[in-house]
Amino acid sequence: MSNYHIKHLEEYYQVYRKSIREPENFWEEIAEEHFIWRKKWDKVLEWDFTKPEIKWFQGAQLNITENCIDRHLATRGDKTAILFEPNDPNEGAEHITYKQLHQRVNQFANVLKEEGVKKGDRVCIYVPMIPELAIATLACARIGAIHSVVFAGFSSTALATRINDSDCKMVITSDGSYRGKKSIDLKGIVDEALESCSGVETVLVAKRINSDIRMKEGRDKWLEPLLDNASTDCEAEIMNAEDPLFILYTSGSTGKPKGMVHTTAGYMVYTAYTFKNAFQYRENDVYWCTADIGWITGHSYIVYGPLANGATTVMFEGVPSYPDFGRFWDIVEKHKVNQFYTAPTAIRALAKQGTELVDKYDLSSLKVLGSVGEPINEEAWHWYNDNVGKGKSPIIDSWWQTETGGIMITPIPYVTPTKPTYATLPFIGIQPALIDEKGEELKGNQVEGRLCIKFPWPSIARTIWGNHERYKETYFSAYDKMYFTGDGALRDEVGYYRITGRVDDVIIVSGHNLGTAPIEDAINEHPAVAESAIVGFPHDIKGSALYGYVTLKDTGESRNHDNLRKEINQLITDRIGPIAKLDKIQFSEGLPKTRSGKIMRRILRKIAHNEMDNLGDISTLLNPEVVQSIIDNKL
Ligand code: WT7
Repeated sequence: MSNYHIKHLEEYYQVYRKSIREPENFWEEIAEEHFIWRKKWDKVLEWDFTKPEIKWFQGAQLNITENCIDRHLATRGDKTAILFEPNDPNEGAEHITYKQLHQRVNQFANVLKEEGVKKGDRVCIYVPMIPELAIATLACARIGAIHSVVFAGFSSTALATRINDSDCKMVITSDGSYRGKKSIDLKGIVDEALESCSGVETVLVAKRINSDIRMKEGRDKWLEPLLDNASTDCEAEIMNAEDPLFILYTSGSTGKPKGMVHTTAGYMVYTAYTFKNAFQYRENDVYWCTADIGWITGHSYIVYGPLANGATTVMFEGVPSYPDFGRFWDIVEKHKVNQFYTAPTAIRALAKQGTELVDKYDLSSLKVLGSVGEPINEEAWHWYNDNVGKGKSPIIDSWWQTETGGIMITPIPYVTPTKPTYATLPFIGIQPALIDEKGEELKGNQVEGRLCIKFPWPSIARTIWGNHERYKETYFSAYDKMYFTGDGALRDEVGYYRITGRVDDVIIVSGHNLGTAPIEDAINEHPAVAESAIVGFPHDIKGSALYGYVTLKDTGESRNHDNLRKEINQLITDRIGPIAKLDKIQFSEGLPKTRSGKIMRRILRKIAHNEMDNLGDISTLLNPEVVQSIIDNKL
């Protein structure tokens, strides 16, 4: 029997050692015993980090939806698979059983086929957190179409870039979406985006807010009547282990967003196994991850991981503050949630409201609390532990990335003793390494360096869509034969890891990696702007917020800075989305540059962090004099 469910620390170490010494045997046993295959693999693993090329379970054939849905029908047909909690609590929750999910995914899959979607085609899904989002995702997987879910808070420009990068021929969306008291005209955003996407032939529109929208003849179709007429049977497409399952875009420090490609078998095995263990999921538990399916957290730990385990997974459409800041706790009480997975930024926002609202609800069902997206600060950790978990529910501070597909470093609840702000131990099969400035691996404990991973795990992204060279350059070129994460970390005296944050120019705002380049591009579009650079600075709730340094074109006329700030943030909202707005915009006469003309963000970052006495040597700059004037005018 494979060690599918780890129950105590000794077992963790024993299984961990096995997974490192004999990774192929280890993952083969897990894959054999806990999944259904149309055909077994010829080879468990083939890899070469220099090319880089990674293949898991080669030769195997399967369909992930048969693992996530069909195989549960016999034993869990009437069990709730997706528990949908709408934005407005008065609308009432919807329980979708495995049987119903099976029918709805099949109907949706048949609609996709009738609309001409074929295996390997890319389908863009731009849908809010309503059941159709999960169902559309699974329907693509059912017929072997590659889904590219775009978070429905992104702007039309960001959407268009993503549609075009992967040549999507179809967009699935809704008439609109609800967010607290507001409703958003999603279809309008899609229409705008499609003005620059000539490859899109069909737009399928789900009804959510019943708004009066424009439907473009021949292109746009309401989903409901199509679904109603579709058969509830749809044979699953047989996929190869390494066929792409989806593309998910993530931002880098430079250039356009990277379409990370995840493939089928390895992703399925790893997300299912991590879900089971990192949340200690037991049959009949109710599990809730508050992320949006538009991010990797939602792909892996709302949809695929939970469903592969036959779990009940909550999908919440709304926001933590509506109707009031007690909403999360209301949902936990109402659905007797057992595992609750959220982001530090949400915890900080809720902590700011005091404890009255948390205390009002019965949270005794909670067994496991999770945190993900950015380092969780000590204060937030304790607030979460004391007031939500009442000191009884272990917090799993889980570190991972869009690129890693699944959780990489995390305590296993009730197994690994937790330590505030520490992600603690590597998950089974994960071999982290800390690297010093010279590129040498730091051995032993009590060391700090750059976090790399030495050996492939099943759910590592295989490439960047359409740009394998960039994949190699970004992740496998910094250090020889290692995957470089972009994060710094330390290892304490017992071998626990603490993630210290990004070591590159990526800034994580409220747990979202937004990418500095597209934001700067948006700012630079303003006719008055000559140049800009953005950096992160500490923020109570968001973790990091954005600080922009902007130089204006010298036109001789004076401009109202407050108006300019509003216009710049409006541009950012239009081009990326409101989540990328800058908290501070400082106008300066220049930006510090190297002699080769590269903007020295390091200096700007230190200024934004108020670390003026620690700027390092600035004498080698092209324009050292601007530094003082930037400091003098700091916001
Ligand atoms: C970056 C990845 C997959 C989670 C959602 C974000 C940061 C993530 C933690 C954590 C400290 C964390 C890292 C990482 N991060 N989780 N528990 N502790 N930092 O996915 O958008 O791909 O961002 O988020 O900096 O590199 P993402």
